[in-house]
Amino acid sequence: MIDRRTHPGRGRRRTLVGLLTATALAMIAGAVVPALASSATTLKDLAEAKGKEIGFALDPNRLSESAYRNIADTEFNLVVAENAMKWDATEPARGSFNWNGADQVANYATSGGKKLYGHTLVWHSQLPGWVSNLSSPAELRTAMVDHISAVAGRYRGRVTAWDVVNEAFNDDGSRRSSVFQQRLGNGYIEEAFRAARAADPTAKLCINDYSTDGINNKSTAIYSLVQDFKARGVPIDCVGFQAHLIVGQVPANMQQNLQRFADLGVDVRITELDIRMQTPADATKLANQAADYRRVFQVCLAVARCAGVTVWGITDRYSWVPGTFPGQGAALIWDDNYQRKPAYDAVTEALGGIVTPTPTPTVTSPTTPPPVGGCRVSYTPNTWNTGFTANVTVANLGTTTVNGWILTFGFTAGQQVTSGWNATVTQSGGQVTAQNMSWNGTIPPNGSQSFGFQGTHSGTNPSPTSYALNGNPCTIG
Ligand code: G3I
Repeated sequence: MIDRRTHPGRGRRRTLVGLLTATALAMIAGAVVPALASSATTLKDLAEAKGKEIGFALDPNRLSESAYRNIADTEFNLVVAENAMKWDATEPARGSFNWNGADQVANYATSGGKKLYGHTLVWHSQLPGWVSNLSSPAELRTAMVDHISAVAGRYRGRVTAWDVVNEAFNDDGSRRSSVFQQRLGNGYIEEAFRAARAADPTAKLCINDYSTDGINNKSTAIYSLVQDFKARGVPIDCVGFQAHLIVGQVPANMQQNLQRFADLGVDVRITELDIRMQTPADATKLANQAADYRRVFQVCLAVARCAGVTVWGITDRYSWVPGTFPGQGAALIWDDNYQRKPAYDAVTEALGGIVTPTPTPTVTSPTTPPPVGGCRVSYTPNTWNTGFTANVTVANLGTTTVNGWILTFGFTAGQQVTSGWNATVTQSGGQVTAQNMSWNGTIPPNGSQSFGFQGTHSGTNPSPTSYALNGNPCTIG
């Protein structure tokens, strides 16, 4: 069997916890297929077993996309709004609130049993013009406190932690010259934290920033602020490290940096992780990126007060990175087509999971070759713009029960599977492999099993013209 770990990006791998029986082989109908893994798991399961949160930045407009939704639902236990809770989204005009997106995010978290992380109350960016235009310090102070009261108050009791103030420092450790800093002076951060505590006494209150992942002037400035707040009893509970990183540049002292904050008596968390590269990606870059993701998760696991890691999006397709850094991207752990990248496996392993190659059917010389026509496949696609779903039914026309099935077929027009149901559906080049789940592996004589998948296409979506069940050709109908 090929160990696909040496071929990053070539097909999805199975995630397993503990020692599995996957290496036991089952003889079926003249073919040898690996027995199914018994305990496939998710990043969420693994993180929870370690007592950590694993979050993602949600764009609620993407939830209608089933591949996005499936990953969101299954892989994470924490949700943060990528944009929907920011000032421009929630209070575009003074005193006039729009809760549409923010409520969608909050309700998604609640209904899915996920923690809700608040991002962000006071930030110089995505700030509506009316705030910047408040020239009177008293007016700006009132607007800031009112905004915090309204937004944190609306989600009072539901938010695990708020980024109260975001990106308040320059790289040299000085204060960023935001409208808040200019009009209200150094005290605005403290005022914001006190207002947030009043609005939601149960939410942890964080200060959040980028380029603070290692020990440097900027992180040290925040360290001093936390020290000062702690000494004076100003409410502060956590520090967020955004970790918008570049492949090969995870700071060597990241763990030491997070630990020094934890030692001040605050939680730490990695709030916006992505690790970008020059595009296009290749196997070497993806492997290096995987090593970097592994390292960042290891850092959080090594710091007891690290609450968890949040990735800044699900798929490279919608990442903010290429828009801000032209020529760079591929920064997340699912690619443009929602395929897991090597970084996904690295995170799995960092969290204590075991990654094994997707079992590949090995067809041996059958003693009694089944007749052609021993199986029949019906394939029903539903195609739109550049996407499609397909329902597939495979029927056993033979006289013996099929115990464990792998159906293979080919795409000829560049179609790409993005997710499946009722089978583990993987793709390598144009070749698609669908393997039964643990609960639908049996097909009795004259019986059938059905599964489906979603995919993308680039204009045409011809159906496959041949199918093989456990290596034996099927009729179509
Ligand atoms: O909502 C408008 C839409 O109406 C308009 O048609 C469209 C046209 O470009 O723009 C839309 O707004 C965009 C918004 O995202 C929502 O999609 C903005 O242009 C775009 O600039 C904005 O980018 C966001 C960025 O913050 C703004 O600074 C990114 O999605 C978001 O990922 C990014 O997140 C930040 C964190 O909040 C803080 N840390 C850094 C991180 C990355 O920049």
